[in-house]
Amino acid sequence: MCGIIGYVGFRKASTVLIDCLKRLDYRGYDSAGVAIIDKKMKVYKEVGEIANVEKTIPKLDGTTGIGHTRWATHGKVNKENAHPHVSCNKKIALIHNGIIENYKKLREELEKNGHIFTSQTDTETIVHLIEQEYKGNLEDAVCSVLKKLKGSYALVVICEDEPGKIVGARKESPLVIGVGDNENFLASDIPALLKYTNRVMYLDDGEVCIITKDKVTVFDSNKKQIKKKENIIDWTIKDAEKSGFPHFMLKEIYDQPDTIHQALRGRISEINRSIEFPIRVEKLLGNGIDSIHIVACGTSYYSGLVGKYLIEQLTDIPVIVELASEYRFFGIKNKSALVIAITQSGETADTLAALRQAENSGCKTLVITNMIGSTATRISDGFLLTQSGPEIGVAATKTFTAQIVVLFLIALKLGLLRRTLGSDEAYHHIIGLKEIPQQIRQVLEKNNDILDVAKKISHAQSVFFIGRGINYPLSLEGALKLKEISYVHAEGFAAGELKHGPFALLTKETPVVAIVTHDATYEKILTNIGEVKARGSPVIAIADEQDTDIINQADFVLSFPSNNDLSSCLSITVILQLLAYHVANLRKCSIDKPRNLAKSVTVE
Ligand code: F6R
Repeated sequence: MCGIIGYVGFRKASTVLIDCLKRLDYRGYDSAGVAIIDKKMKVYKEVGEIANVEKTIPKLDGTTGIGHTRWATHGKVNKENAHPHVSCNKKIALIHNGIIENYKKLREELEKNGHIFTSQTDTETIVHLIEQEYKGNLEDAVCSVLKKLKGSYALVVICEDEPGKIVGARKESPLVIGVGDNENFLASDIPALLKYTNRVMYLDDGEVCIITKDKVTVFDSNKKQIKKKENIIDWTIKDAEKSGFPHFMLKEIYDQPDTIHQALRGRISEINRSIEFPIRVEKLLGNGIDSIHIVACGTSYYSGLVGKYLIEQLTDIPVIVELASEYRFFGIKNKSALVIAITQSGETADTLAALRQAENSGCKTLVITNMIGSTATRISDGFLLTQSGPEIGVAATKTFTAQIVVLFLIALKLGLLRRTLGSDEAYHHIIGLKEIPQQIRQVLEKNNDILDVAKKISHAQSVFFIGRGINYPLSLEGALKLKEISYVHAEGFAAGELKHGPFALLTKETPVVAIVTHDATYEKILTNIGEVKARGSPVIAIADEQDTDIINQADFVLSFPSNNDLSSCLSITVILQLLAYHVANLRKCSIDKPRNLAKSVTVE
């Protein structure tokens, strides 16, 4: 949470900072601010959108500055609590992402020493501490302050007396260095930088960096200099733009034929009927696993539930799926379990904590993520990228389907390795997966039908989603998508569970979205639909296009192309995403930036 940017170079810092912050606003949009050294330290901050700050910045020539977009943790959403925070003498400015756990005690001591605080934030403590330690060298002051901090941070600091220099430090919150020609950057996320550079260095926990316009220096907490590798990112600025779509979310839904193809790219050998992963991952999967624990949060957790279904269908390995925030405290410590963490951002604090917990318990860990270089990739034994390009909409869409594809490939690989899956059956699934991009295109062509159904349910106060088997986690995801972007109350249920309680909530005004596939659960879900209809609730069935009977059971039908394979869960997901999108759009909601949410949850 919270977007961070630092710039030092030859351009006007105000322009670069605002530009980059606009690409970071999915990280938090409670307030925003910049500090620029323009002979003196100049600070501008406002509540709400970045455009609100932009309006207040006069013409400035300064070429060193920092910017922040906030997702509030400590202290209300107001101008005082917006970052950057400044020292009493107004010479030092600082931005921060993370949580300083011991800030109350530190603040009391600072106040006793005469420091005047202007906000309720934990962050302000750090800038006063730096002021207290400052003896003419910013990095020295930062290093001695870091020793006093408990908690997590990515922090970026500038000082009026040392223009042309930015100091950054990280512990458990993301911070990358963007390397340019005659200019350098610090950022919480790579998409912020893509307009200016695709060369990055990843800071590790405990590291501190100094950037000037022509030099990057990184050292550890003992001031020992560290040589960092420069990495080239193959994302382009176009990947991080709306490309004519009204919202990032819609663009990202429409990206899916391509992103699914990318998730499969280089991993399937049709000739050998095999799945190929990097050697480190192959070793992890071939390593006498007796169980798999999947840990994740939110939408990634739901892809984990789909993964459980796929792995248990195709292999003999039992799978436990746990919310990372629970697993980290209560997870089963079984050394021979392989722990798979799923995280789009690779920075979700709870998922990282679960990964560390697994490592401490002696488990091998595998990460599925979209972010190369993220913390998750660096603290695990191996990782697989979803290869989806940047996802900017706060609601995860294309990365969810790509995570499922990767989990499907893992299930196939394990099934083949353990001989629970024959070569012909594996081939059937491989062909099924390869057909998915085309089938999703067919779903996207029916966008208007989905819009028509969205119009019918957009005034509902509550919507239920039901499914059985693999469709149960899809129901959970369909409900999450709807509630987070349209603010309509929605619940996902295993269809058989309705009569054990939730039926009490059903009224004639509660639409029920039922996912119906031609598998062992078909007859049962039809019975469940009958039960719902008997209570007068309208039913929207998401069903195979060859299912001609379903129209007699449901009020509306949205169909997906038949492929007789588990992979049809991907086409079904796209229908659910579009349904949520249209309802939110009809209700005029802030689709890409839903209230109270942020893209990357880096606090626990
Ligand atoms: C919902 C959504 C969130 C994330 C969750 C985990 O649309 O995006 O529920 O899935 O915050 O984030 P990652 O996958 O980055 O760990």
